[in-house]
Amino acid sequence: MNDTYILAIETSCDETSMAIVKNGQEVEALTILSQMDTHANFGGVVPEIASRMHTENITMVLEETLKKSKKTMDDISAIAVTYAPGLLGSLLVGVECAKTLALIYDKPLIAVNHTMGHIFANNIDWTMSYPTLALIVSGGHTDLLLMKNESEMESLGSTIDDSIGEVYDKVARVLGMPYPGGPNIEKASLQGKDTYELPRPMLDNSYNFSFSGLKSFIINLVHNETQRGNKVRINDLAKSFQVVAVDELVRKVELAIQNTDVHSFILAGGVSANKYLREEMKKLCEKYQVEFHVPNILYCTDNAAMIGCAAYPLYKAKKFADFTLNAKSSENIKNYIEKRDN
Ligand code: KG4
Ligand code: ZN
Repeated sequence: MNDTYILAIETSCDETSMAIVKNGQEVEALTILSQMDTHANFGGVVPEIASRMHTENITMVLEETLKKSKKTMDDISAIAVTYAPGLLGSLLVGVECAKTLALIYDKPLIAVNHTMGHIFANNIDWTMSYPTLALIVSGGHTDLLLMKNESEMESLGSTIDDSIGEVYDKVARVLGMPYPGGPNIEKASLQGKDTYELPRPMLDNSYNFSFSGLKSFIINLVHNETQRGNKVRINDLAKSFQVVAVDELVRKVELAIQNTDVHSFILAGGVSANKYLREEMKKLCEKYQVEFHVPNILYCTDNAAMIGCAAYPLYKAKKFADFTLNAKSSENIKNYIEKRDN
């Protein structure tokens, strides 16, 4: 088989990103134009501004990506794009761009689910082996999956309320830290001690997660202390929060390792950039002699290279989209798997 070069587009949130990925693993070029500084002025992503900025920047990002890779559109085998889930207006910019390129250059179009992208980012620096457990922790997701092979998977559990990334961001905000909160909580926690007693989320034996109780407890604690004129020990609270939240993620993965016959575990999504989480998961995997993998930090947060990786199995299976492809703001991973399998 000839080498496959997929031009991938990711615009689901506040990064305009394009990449050219060879054979689902080698990143030939990657451009990420982040709008983070603009949205930081508002304390979070403003959807209207995000889609407008994607529209303004997408042509430049395409030119830059082709230039870096020294490829032309003639070399491209297919166009892949994130169509769900994410901000609708932002996704639409990527989807329309992908459809236009596919039409003009007569290339197959591949529709990629963003969460699958996070998982397949793990194929960049090593080759994923199956069966494997996968934990996706991002701003939109907290999903635990059992992957039997590159196209067959089962959803074991998800968050029943907030995603872990959302909670990191909300806790950071109440502690007065700028958006995005995750990296700032991580930084503060390095200076803090685990001295706050916080409620443990959902101590049951399902694979589901629940973080809203922990989030509300912290928000109330900060408000009550402030009203009483007491000082909140920000670094200690950041550390205590991280310990409880990460412990819950570790506990559910441990349960899944005990109950399934896997020898591999992968961590994915924006929150997987967190060093404490990476270390705790590594320790857990060592305890059970399970291989532990997590993408290089660059590929943990949103980027188009991961979309090019996730598109490759679909390319091989000739699962192409047509021009009726539309953006979808939400797509639960369980529904996605069921729809794909039918
Ligand atoms: O995957 P991602 O870039 O976007 C989504 O698909 O949602 O994840 C973004 C999330 C944000 O909630 C951000 O605060 C969090 O990932 N994040 C982190 C870290 N870096 C990014 N959370 C904790 N520690 C980090 N170092
Ligand atoms: Zn993401």
